[in-house]
Amino acid sequence: MAAETEEIRGIGHSVRRVEDDRFIRGAGTYIDDMHLPGMLYMAILRSPYAHAKLNGIDPSRAQALEGVIAVVTGELMAQHNLAWMPTMSGDTQAVLVTDKVRFQGQEVAAVIATDPYVATDALELIDVDYEPLGVVVSPQQSAATGAPVIRDEKEGQTDNHIYHWEAGDQAETDKAFAEADKVVSLDTFYPRSHPSPLETCGCIADVNPATGQATIYMTSQAPHAIRTVFALVAGLPEEKIRIVSPDIGGGFGNKVPVYPGYVVATAASLLLGHPVKWIEERSENLISTGFARDYHMHGEMALKTDGTMTGLRVKLDADEGAFFADAQPSKFKVGLFHIVSGSYDLPTAHVVADGYYTNKAPGGVAYRCSFRVTEASYMIERLVQNAAYEIGMDPADFRKQNFIEKDQFPYRSATGFEYDSGNYHGAMDLALEKVGYEQLRKEQAEAREEGRLIGIGLASFTEVVGAGPHKDYDILGLKMNDGAELRVHPTGKAILKISSKTQGQGHETTFAQIVASELGIQPEDIKVMHGDTDNTPYGLGTYASRSTPTVGAATAMVSRKLRDKARKLAAHLLEVSEDDVEFEAGRFTVRGAPDKAVTIQDAAFAAYTNFPDGMEAGLEGVTYYDPPNLTFPFGTYAVVVEVDAETGVWKVDRMVAVDDCGVRINPMIVEGQIHGGLCEGFGIAAMEQITFDEEGNCIGANFLDYLLPTAWETPRFELGETVTPSPHHPIGAKGVGESATVGSPAAFVNAVIDALWPLGVRNIDMPLTSGKVWEAIQAAQTS
Ligand code: CDP
Repeated sequence: MAAETEEIRGIGHSVRRVEDDRFIRGAGTYIDDMHLPGMLYMAILRSPYAHAKLNGIDPSRAQALEGVIAVVTGELMAQHNLAWMPTMSGDTQAVLVTDKVRFQGQEVAAVIATDPYVATDALELIDVDYEPLGVVVSPQQSAATGAPVIRDEKEGQTDNHIYHWEAGDQAETDKAFAEADKVVSLDTFYPRSHPSPLETCGCIADVNPATGQATIYMTSQAPHAIRTVFALVAGLPEEKIRIVSPDIGGGFGNKVPVYPGYVVATAASLLLGHPVKWIEERSENLISTGFARDYHMHGEMALKTDGTMTGLRVKLDADEGAFFADAQPSKFKVGLFHIVSGSYDLPTAHVVADGYYTNKAPGGVAYRCSFRVTEASYMIERLVQNAAYEIGMDPADFRKQNFIEKDQFPYRSATGFEYDSGNYHGAMDLALEKVGYEQLRKEQAEAREEGRLIGIGLASFTEVVGAGPHKDYDILGLKMNDGAELRVHPTGKAILKISSKTQGQGHETTFAQIVASELGIQPEDIKVMHGDTDNTPYGLGTYASRSTPTVGAATAMVSRKLRDKARKLAAHLLEVSEDDVEFEAGRFTVRGAPDKAVTIQDAAFAAYTNFPDGMEAGLEGVTYYDPPNLTFPFGTYAVVVEVDAETGVWKVDRMVAVDDCGVRINPMIVEGQIHGGLCEGFGIAAMEQITFDEEGNCIGANFLDYLLPTAWETPRFELGETVTPSPHHPIGAKGVGESATVGSPAAFVNAVIDALWPLGVRNIDMPLTSGKVWEAIQAAQTS
């Protein structure tokens, strides 16, 4: 009979991360820690020009260097039909250049050598004949008449325009604007920023010539999707490809795409019959891989005099770089930019998006955001603050007046999303209370009397995560559903195999906690496996906070499947009908006789030793989960800053962040996610930016030019929470990973603008460097 139950450390417990044991001992296994017998090393030659015709490549001097095994060029790749590859959005991207380079840092050739230093040295010995062409570095230049056509190899492409998409109701929105008492507008730019994971990208491609088996160890957030793409592009049988993503030192979206380096290393291994390792250097990572943002946006809001929002118009021009590589759901063209009406009960909205090719690296990765949520969130929260001032209302009151009310959920937004649940007033009220808003406004007024510039900024963001329902979401036609496979061994210990891939988020801990809650097995008795396509169920990977809404749900569902079978086994052991068996915290008891009980471990043992006639042995199963809807986490952030008008330097005095991501599986991990996200949001607001000069030279190729916030600059964050479960998620959870990065930049910028509004400053584009702030003050004072 069952032993006394101890508390199961499942959902709601701040269980310490099991991953950290190996990480803090320096015992993680990252790609660069791995060494295979006979392994060769690859280095990539990159273009110094942003746009230049390739007249020829002479690799002979490099080939002559001792230790060089081969120089791979675009021509060689073309012979194997691998010079171009598809992107996530169905565009094409050059693997190695054959005709012309289209951005600075583009892959031109690769050296394979016996030693990584020899490979790098040999790059300087490759002679390339470039003929520079005119350069385009912004959507405005790209759209100008006579601009050089960047993608002239594409049939029918006579300009640099990529797409024109619209969402919402134009006629209704025009009517709302025609009838508006007041219209407020804002032009803003969300700069190009980089996920900058600690570990750069890399791979070891190991193609075995004897068996035809290709094992590729890769820094990938989406190993299954990558395997399918490899099979389709290289024409290799899918069962002969195994993608293994070992420990990953941060992804943030940077490790979602297929980069040319992976493809060239695989081709080189196939041709040479040796494993080939490629590890990207920091500057390569910064100049050539997955950027985010780079959106120029114009927003307009229609208002009544009493402060009611009546319509929203947004036009955005996206700088996509030389190849359109966004991870792009084929149905929702403007992607999750549809969230641009935010937390507000806007009766109508119309959104127009145009994408342009430029001579910059391809971008559009979901850097802690799903398909443009960040830009949308920033747009609406900046516009709302300016609108409040323009109509003479307090920004908190203005928001509250226009929030979607708690009883309006599920709520259909003006651009067609169905928000699952929300309590925007709750999050706002808690944030205002925590920050002491009323008192702060008084102090701000007093400080202004003394000539001090205090600013209070708010952002009440609504996020949208968990792509997604198969009817609406896919990547390259692959539906965005995910799987979980659970096996409970005879001794009651379990192994959970999941299709998501943790890159530091703690999935090995939290997904075990879901099983723990559902089955009553302690989390330390559940091993979580991920990142190996041969050994985990299919799924589209981990990015854009989709793991909890999709794989988290699959984990709960597969656990329930096993619980149903375990109940049958318990009934057999207890010699009662299944209907008389109750379950709680790992114990099956007989209704009305609670001391007649067996544990889940007893049931698991019986599954292999003593199961009823007609039942299959074993206690295992697999579930693929198709979410019925996305989930919509939300929150309110409040930031207090003080700006020095003499220097433009601003510092954060307070930062209060109230988040609601539904039921929290592991509160400590959720807080860690929020801290990380807030730090990234602060970095983008304050200092991070990749710029390009007029020749297309990338300024931001190292951490001296691309500034990341360290512990020194990062403000202290004060967190709060409300809990509004998702009604359709089996455990009521919503994603959280990206929320703080999505929600916070507007709060920081709004705080600085709040401080400077009385001086006449209406807008400053991120990052708010002290120089820019100072210039904005000067410009306002002289105008
Ligand atoms: O897809 P990704 O893992 O990046 O994002 P997520 O689904 O938001 O999850 C990030 C981490 O927070 C995971 O370890 C989740 O299990 C955890 N989490 C949680 O404990 N409770 C939630 N309601 C949401 C996420």
